[in-house]
Amino acid sequence: MNSKLDPKALSVTPEEVYLQRRHYLRLFGMAATTWPLAGCTEDAKQHKVIDVQANSVDADPMRASDPLTRFEDATSYNNFYEFGTGKGDPRRHAGQLRTTPWEIHVSGLVEEPRSFSLLELLPETSRVERIYRLRCVEAWSMVIPWQGVPLAKVIERCKPLPDAAYIAFDSLADPTQMPGIRQATLEWPYTEALRMDEALHPLSLMATGMYRRSLPPQNGAPVRLVVPWKYGFKSIKSIVSIRFTREPPETTWNRMQPSEYGFFANVNPDVDHPRWSQRSERRLAGDGNRAFAPRIATLPFNGYAKQVEQLYRGMDLHQWF
Ligand code: MTE
Repeated sequence: MNSKLDPKALSVTPEEVYLQRRHYLRLFGMAATTWPLAGCTEDAKQHKVIDVQANSVDADPMRASDPLTRFEDATSYNNFYEFGTGKGDPRRHAGQLRTTPWEIHVSGLVEEPRSFSLLELLPETSRVERIYRLRCVEAWSMVIPWQGVPLAKVIERCKPLPDAAYIAFDSLADPTQMPGIRQATLEWPYTEALRMDEALHPLSLMATGMYRRSLPPQNGAPVRLVVPWKYGFKSIKSIVSIRFTREPPETTWNRMQPSEYGFFANVNPDVDHPRWSQRSERRLAGDGNRAFAPRIATLPFNGYAKQVEQLYRGMDLHQWF
């Protein structure tokens, strides 16, 4: 096992993050609760909001002021269907993922289609830290400190042509390393896409690390997308290909079930999933043994409305889910 990814090493919280967490825990009097280990059906039964979100206004949108999710929780409660559909499957199976060397193929409407090494496309010198809320369409959420490169910088290096209107991403789909690929749960490779103006927004990030460690395999090593105002399924993991297109690309969840998973998938408490409410969410954050905070209200655009709503001016956000 790569020593950097040794679970014991990973559980060591960088001091600054730890101090910040202590600060927030004290601030909000966070109590530890036990998570009943159930998915969205459990969430769907509980519509009552028993706490209001303390994060409605971030002083700095790049650094959410909410209490952080514990590293242990962010790396053991995952969605990464290439490794299985259970929340614990990615951690159980993704340790096999070979992340070096790693190449990303850039194609479509670009000056020159070519492959980049990870470091060519995301050099260490361009890396930044962001603390973002991650809101899953299943109505749970986390607050994660990410390290990575703003997607706009990555796009610059790809040299897209002026008529590129969309950017699409594909995940690795290797059945020899990813046991979930052998099941037809989704069509592989997992594909996601953004409109170019969304991709160029300063909040859009390509993450290579979290909690100041290399990205663990179960969280999408060695590089994943993080788009904090959209449901988590847009934040595609283990990216091996980037394509620039003129027309909207097909995306995995949207192609599977368009009535449940929109192309835009902006977090919107006013548009329910056909099978459960999106009004509130379970925030996995705080101390204790898998501590879920009380259910909190879901905010439009996951609390980033001020930063992103102008991207959608004139669009009916019910119709364009
Ligand atoms: N990317 C790939 N390749 N495969 C997946 O199954 N799941 C998505 C997204 N990216 C997924 C993926 C979903 S539904 C969510 S909520 C987030 O990853 C979860 O990220 P996390 O496990 O790091 O919290």
